[in-house]
Amino acid sequence: MSESRHGHEPVLVEPVLRLLDPRPGEVVLDGTVGLGGHASVLIPRIAPGGRYVGIELDEAMLSAARERLADVPVETLQLFSGNFADFPDYLQRAGLTQVDHMLLDLGLNSAQLDDPARGFSFGRDGPLDMRFDRKQKDRAVDLVNAMNERDLADLFYRFGQEGASRRIAKRICQVRHEGRIRTTKVLARAVESALASGKVGARGKIHPATRVFQALRVAVNHELDNLERCLPRVSRYLRPGGKLAVISFQSLEDGIVKRFLRAAKTEGTFRELTRRPIVAEAAERRRNPRSRSAKLRVAERIET
Ligand SMILES: C[S@@+](CC[C@H](N)C(=O)[O-])C[C@H]1O[C@@H](n2cnc3c(N)ncnc32)[C@H](O)[C@@H]1O
Repeated sequence: MSESRHGHEPVLVEPVLRLLDPRPGEVVLDGTVGLGGHASVLIPRIAPGGRYVGIELDEAMLSAARERLADVPVETLQLFSGNFADFPDYLQRAGLTQVDHMLLDLGLNSAQLDDPARGFSFGRDGPLDMRFDRKQKDRAVDLVNAMNERDLADLFYRFGQEGASRRIAKRICQVRHEGRIRTTKVLARAVESALASGKVGARGKIHPATRVFQALRVAVNHELDNLERCLPRVSRYLRPGGKLAVISFQSLEDGIVKRFLRAAKTEGTFRELTRRPIVAEAAERRRNPRSRSAKLRVAERIET
């Protein structure tokens, strides 16, 4: 279960282990199993007798996780292809009514980002796809070419917090007159040219197309909806004393988690163990650039 062979280093492993503190015999639900990075460090902690249930939307990631975790006994590990928003169905299929810990490590992983064929990256030319679940119908190319200028601008503003959303949407519609926008490079160039043609403020170190790509990915995969659907169901399935850990990579997701935990505190269902979200230490940030935007919140289910 080595890291390097699989290319994806899980983020914030030390605080996840410390705060969840999984013990032998416990049950962990991993809603975003990805390449099995967190699974590979959590599973040894619940042995012997523990159970690890993993859910993943992307079949390619799931087969990589299966390979990585091939040594784990079948009575310990169960992996499901599906959406974490439907986690109660998978728990039922696993014959479980409660779990001790739940982990959500949101967004996408480096293997998805680095594969040009998946269309997630403005840095690598590929088809504008961006689906986690490749059985799903709508891809980024469908949204970019079908939505009207106003709806595109709203999408970039809402899901990407892009301040120049209108200018970019306008440029995209102009480019569309010349033909369908099919690739990541054509879209990235359209965004760059929109931003080059006006005063849109300093962008710091981020690529000009970062927010537009984020917005499209969030929309294509219904990422905020899935999180909003999932969180209110968690308290029913987490045993009192059990813990929920959520790692988010952008402020919209972190905001949803924060608001959920604030309401849960008022209702008396959760106690937050992280007053402020935990971020990666300098060494991890240097080693793994993906960790730089990661924020971890952990909360404990309270007996009600
Ligand atoms: C940041 S990665 C998780 C990495 C994993 N913790 C590891 O250590 O390998 C997020 C994963 O969640 C998956 N994903 C995104 N939305 C999902 C959803 N609604 N249900 C299940 N999996 C989802 C993505 O396909 C991606 O593989």
